[in-house]
Amino acid sequence: MIGDISFRDYKKNDIHGLALYPATMVAPVQNIILQELLKTEQISSVFDPFHGSGTALYEALELSPDIKLIGCDINPLAHLITLVKLQGITKNITKDILELKGNLNTVEADDFSFPNMNKWFRPDITESIKKVRQSIILIKSKKNRLYFWSILSTFIRKYSNTRSSTYKLHSKDTEAIERMKNTLINDFLSSVEDNVSKFTISSSNIKLYKNDVLNQLTKFKEKTVDLSISSPPYGDNATTVPYGQFSSLALHWIDKKDLVFDGWELDNYSSIDRRSLGGNYKGLIDNEKGNLLIKPYLEKISTSKQKKVICFFKDYFIFLDELCRVTNKYIVLTLGNRTVDGININLTSITQEYLEYKNFKNIHKSNRDIPNKRIPRLTSKVNNKSVLSMNKEYVIIHRRIN
Ligand SMILES: C[S@@+](CC[C@H](N)C(=O)[O-])C[C@H]1O[C@@H](n2cnc3c(N)ncnc32)[C@H](O)[C@@H]1O
Repeated sequence: MIGDISFRDYKKNDIHGLALYPATMVAPVQNIILQELLKTEQISSVFDPFHGSGTALYEALELSPDIKLIGCDINPLAHLITLVKLQGITKNITKDILELKGNLNTVEADDFSFPNMNKWFRPDITESIKKVRQSIILIKSKKNRLYFWSILSTFIRKYSNTRSSTYKLHSKDTEAIERMKNTLINDFLSSVEDNVSKFTISSSNIKLYKNDVLNQLTKFKEKTVDLSISSPPYGDNATTVPYGQFSSLALHWIDKKDLVFDGWELDNYSSIDRRSLGGNYKGLIDNEKGNLLIKPYLEKISTSKQKKVICFFKDYFIFLDELCRVTNKYIVLTLGNRTVDGININLTSITQEYLEYKNFKNIHKSNRDIPNKRIPRLTSKVNNKSVLSMNKEYVIIHRRIN
């Protein structure tokens, strides 16, 4: 049924290139899977419990304009980007872009600031972002403001003092900071204009939750979604892919009135990652099947590293239990197998076995290479030997059997 999913040449020239976000799914992969499943059965709702930048939800919308789209993410930036992609912009966008340009000519930089602003932004860049920020705040249409913020988020990152080689916040050296040419306002405006044509569809049948999915799922009734599709974190939030840390600079700048923002998210640069799946230690795993599945891995890992694995799987099995409870037909997951203490943890086969145990039969499995520039192939050193980072991702599809 589902053919080759390598899509090696896929470039985000479509709507998925709207804003930068870490570890996004590859849209055409999600598209062919959804196409196949939507044609075999009546699917009226699609749920992505970790929607990130909204890749899967957008592809579902493209294939089935009336489908109910449900998503959850703990990160306000992910929420913003996904909302923009799904709800679109208004027909007055051209007028609002003209107004935005007018505002940019008249506003003066104000005294807006946040902790460590001077560490992460050069003074002239701070001044440019302040002007853009104020110009966006003056736009009346919320939909269009959100569009402008999502575009700005990429340039905040690009013109900050942090390195582009990693998702973490890691200061560039002084020379590299001084070398940056400040064309932020022009780049922002060009991107605003270029991306408008990518908005060809939109939906009002959307329910996006900015919440911890473990909390949100307890509010869902049994079998409320037909198809769940996602790529969960793989247990490396704190190390290789800190989604929250990556987003924090943009989140500081964006007007909080335009974010779903509870207040704790920017307490420090790690707040979001700490509250994310497996982000903090909550004790041992009290799940018999789960414990059996991870035991063979734990036995080979040093005691000091075991905690990391337990931390992640404690949350992960709770998540899988809840996902199985709320999903009526299909579960589609894109997964990676990370290495801890030299041992490759096969998240894919653990998940597969667990879903089978929960009466979701595996009907498909495939894999593809991950072409990733920001996660070096050799990530860490263990006993002075370099450890390979993930270079493959796996797609598994399961169908409820009762
Ligand atoms: C692999 S990314 C998803 C990327 C997405 N598929 C895309 O294409 O952009 C995982 C997402 O899970 C979110 N996340 C992590 N822990 C979470 C939690 N406990 N509740 C909700 N979202 C969480 C992160 O913020 C991140 O956006």
